[in-house]
Amino acid sequence: MICEELLATVRRANRVVVFTGAGVSAESGVPTFRDAQTGLWAKFDPTELATPDAFHRDPALVWGWYEWRRAAVLRAQPNRAHRAIAAMARHVPTLTVITQNIDDLHERGGSREVVHLHGRLERPYCNQCGEVRTLAPPVAGVTGEGRRMNPPTCTRCDGRVRPGVVWFGESLPEREWFAAKKAASECQVFFCVGTSSLVYPPASLPRIAGEAGAATIQVNPSPTEMDGEVTWDILGAAGSVMPEILKRAWDANL
Ligand code: OAD
Repeated sequence: MICEELLATVRRANRVVVFTGAGVSAESGVPTFRDAQTGLWAKFDPTELATPDAFHRDPALVWGWYEWRRAAVLRAQPNRAHRAIAAMARHVPTLTVITQNIDDLHERGGSREVVHLHGRLERPYCNQCGEVRTLAPPVAGVTGEGRRMNPPTCTRCDGRVRPGVVWFGESLPEREWFAAKKAASECQVFFCVGTSSLVYPPASLPRIAGEAGAATIQVNPSPTEMDGEVTWDILGAAGSVMPEILKRAWDANL
């Protein structure tokens, strides 16, 4: 239920943070990680695909998996949640989007300067010298679930190019994490949209915001770790709830 007090609080806020997880892209057809049946981690073992050791052991398996995901994201379109979040930025003096997602659907939905805490699929870089590599769109029919592909070689130093994402056991990018903590501690409203709030350090952001005095709003169709800790818990899909807040707070349509 979206109450009038929530709408008034959002309307009054000068600084708003929208913190998102895989659930915000679910309605675009991009699978989440932990949903039973459909989640990626229900089907694949993260220790074989999302750690530095896994890439060292079997680079073709890991590179092929991320290329398969990159191809799927390229086919996906931003949904009503991405577009509503971008539209909200036109009504709030400062709105910061912080995402754990490695897709670019917020950007394609119209958001600018998105803080990517877990990196980006389209920004692979050399394992050795750090040079960022631009990739051509994956060739149709080449990528596939479980299909191995050799990672490219760095044009500068001959090192091995790796996916531009943060793996288990790795630190978050420093600049992005600093920006995220700062935005969380300075905002008046903090939305937590489509995340299980299980992966730290990002999952500490709603608490940082709440402790600094922000109203916290969770949007999720299922129970999470944050239940009972947020100011308002809205049970529903992001693609319905975010456009409804946009409409009722500012009388704006998508
Ligand atoms: P999870 O898969 O853990 O959680 C996705 C959340 O989205 C769940 O709470 C779902 O209930 C919710 N959800 C599903 N459909 C939704 C919808 N239509 N609208 C709103 N919510 C919906 O994904 P994250 O919380 O993003 O890290 O996971 C955090 C990190 O764990 C990821 O960034 C990834 C993963 O391992 C790395 O790869 C480093």
